[in-house]
Amino acid sequence: MKKPDNCVIIIFGASGDLTKRKLMPAIFELYKQNNLPEKFAVLGMASSPLTDTEFRDAMKAAIVKNDSIADVKKIEEFSTRLNYFPMNFKDPGAYNELKNKIRSLSGICGESCNYIFYLATIPSLFAEISVNLGKAGLNKSSSGYSRIIVEKPFGYDLASAIELNNTMHEIFDESQIYRIDHYLGKETVQNVLVTRFANGIFEPIWNRNYVHHIEVTSAENLGIENRGGYYETSGALRDMVQSHLLRLVTLIAMEPPSSFDSDAVRNEQLKVLQSLRKLKPEEIEDSVIRGQYIASTINGKSVKGYREEKDVNPDSRTETYAAVKFYIDNWRWGGVPFYIRTGKQLPTRVTEAVIHFRKTPHYLFKESQNITDNQLILRIQPDEGILLKFGMKEPGSGFKVHNVNMDFHYSDISNIHIPEAYERLIYDCMIGDSTLFLRADAVEEAWKFVEPIQKAWDDDHKVKIYGYPAGTWGPDVADNLIAGGEHITWRYPCKNLADDGVYCEL
Ligand code: BG6
Repeated sequence: MKKPDNCVIIIFGASGDLTKRKLMPAIFELYKQNNLPEKFAVLGMASSPLTDTEFRDAMKAAIVKNDSIADVKKIEEFSTRLNYFPMNFKDPGAYNELKNKIRSLSGICGESCNYIFYLATIPSLFAEISVNLGKAGLNKSSSGYSRIIVEKPFGYDLASAIELNNTMHEIFDESQIYRIDHYLGKETVQNVLVTRFANGIFEPIWNRNYVHHIEVTSAENLGIENRGGYYETSGALRDMVQSHLLRLVTLIAMEPPSSFDSDAVRNEQLKVLQSLRKLKPEEIEDSVIRGQYIASTINGKSVKGYREEKDVNPDSRTETYAAVKFYIDNWRWGGVPFYIRTGKQLPTRVTEAVIHFRKTPHYLFKESQNITDNQLILRIQPDEGILLKFGMKEPGSGFKVHNVNMDFHYSDISNIHIPEAYERLIYDCMIGDSTLFLRADAVEEAWKFVEPIQKAWDDDHKVKIYGYPAGTWGPDVADNLIAGGEHITWRYPCKNLADDGVYCEL
């Protein structure tokens, strides 16, 4: 892999969960794989008055927690590149001190330097930090680059996303802004493009003539953990649908780009978002299901309902589950329904997309009426891989058809390192490749799709929110959403935990 130019990564929000769980382990992994620049430093910043040593100790512990077999000597070596600077992000004066601090970092920066600012703070600080960086002149570097990575959520709705884009564009050029959606950093998400565009067999049938419907699921078997405060302002629609699930849809539905150039790819993604049919207020009730987990017992252990979680309003109507049916109004997908669903406290953790192909025009094998349609399952996580389901003859007399699987698991390729999403994305930012980051226009388009749904939920208290016991696949009514008068169901890769234990199939 190309060695990036020397740089300093400056993390705003270095005492937060994201830095400990994702960013530091990812930067360490890049170090281990020898994919960091020759000279680099990480400068962590938060309000607490830590010393470099205290910060290094906290980060070493975070790395070990994530990778218990990591080489202790390597971690020690890596930690010498970590520095800490206590800072009040709201104080414009502190940014001049920050500038001096960055320059003082041994041997990396002289008069000029490459900077990557990583905003891992609460979203309400994104605009203020950007403005203050601009005032201190840190939005440019005389003979290097200055780039800024912004975490999700990017805006709270369309208006706030536009406002944030406008503020950031006054300070940074669009080419300097790297808006993260970590799903795009997942190896298997990128593999959707390779599956489609590197193989002659899929693309000819990847359209309304052959595809009956498409299903995308992102299920989690945990609750909201300690994120009640954030989740109450977000909910599944903003947290997962507006970002990760719509990203996946764009990769599945986009036209082949003319090249793998960042703008060519992102132009095609944008066109998909622009073609999403916006739901009218009167369609919301029938096209979108929202749910909230309620207390239940899983494997003999009682599990709290959402309303009993810390920092959650006991009357909360925030959804922890959302399922949406929609259409993409373009030549390729006209009339093909897309179904997406996501939820917390479902029976298992799985993210996958299922392409359901149309049945044969005339079915000959009357002995086997229950044969399922051909499905191509793109398994994003866990057990990353691809599965094709099709019918084969059962040996013996007659013509009985049996469903079989053609199966590929990434884990079958031994000795490959599958980079974590953050690892890939931080590396891409260092080499200046923004293909897997979101452009301003795409973020705004995604909000345009989600906003009418959110508005209907917020404004009309008659729109139902369904409870579902933790450990089940969400509200039963979501089955009616997909059935649409035909015998179609969601793919359930595992049974409800309320049944006899978990049974997962790929
Ligand atoms: C985050 C959401 O963006 O993605 C979380 O805020 C969610 O609520 C997480 O749990 C899921 O990511 P992953 O990589 O674990 O599927």
